[in-house]
Amino acid sequence: MPKPQGLELLRAAAPTVSIGVVTANLLALGAEIQLLERVGAKLAHVDVMDGCFCPMMTVGPPFLKAIKTSLLKDVHLMIQEPLEKVAEYVAAGADMVTVHPESCSQIHRVLQKLGQLANANDPARGVVRGIALNPSTPIEVLDPLMDELELISLIAINPGWGGQKYISATTARIARVKRLIADSGKDIILCADGGITKENIAAVAATGVDLIVAGSAVFDGKTPEANARFMLEAVGGKL
Ligand code: DX5
Ligand code: ZN
Repeated sequence: MPKPQGLELLRAAAPTVSIGVVTANLLALGAEIQLLERVGAKLAHVDVMDGCFCPMMTVGPPFLKAIKTSLLKDVHLMIQEPLEKVAEYVAAGADMVTVHPESCSQIHRVLQKLGQLANANDPARGVVRGIALNPSTPIEVLDPLMDELELISLIAINPGWGGQKYISATTARIARVKRLIADSGKDIILCADGGITKENIAAVAATGVDLIVAGSAVFDGKTPEANARFMLEAVGGKL
């Protein structure tokens, strides 16, 4: 399968930050997205939670469709049984779809299906396929999936509960997955997601991840623009 252009855009932007927009002021979502565009962000991270895979419930395809932006739409599906649902998120404008092996019995099939879907924003982009691992999921789960993905995300908190701290064991997991990617010889984006703040982002960036997800560290209800600039500069993002 040819490399999706979306992967090339991601690689060109890396290392950078994908900003969690579900934590934005949703009553002013348009202005919040424009703020991200203004500071030079390249990705908007949309955390979709169904209240079944994890206790929190957030947004779905209508929310994704409503976001009009030049940012890449980075959709993280924390939903049960995604196989029959991924097409709706791609049709709603997802450029990247990250799914959890913990959420279904046929995760390889989900990745195959994602590989067949056309990007609704720009067909040339394709859909970047991601696998996210919860903190208690062994890295070995990735082994049979390496030929069917373009992104691996290590979740550094337990999804669905707010106010958590970065789980320090994630750092060693990042190093292991970096080696796995190097050994595969494939162009795969490595991401860390959850519990990343202004205080620890430099240390997480120093692990060599390509992408960091940050939501509440940016949209803190006080100075989102300054926070976004800080986080992007901390990882050497392209301002
Ligand atoms: C796990 C999600 C994260 C999270 C953002 O819940 O994948 O993207 O909501 O976490 P913070 O707000 O800690 O950056
Ligand atoms: Zn996420």
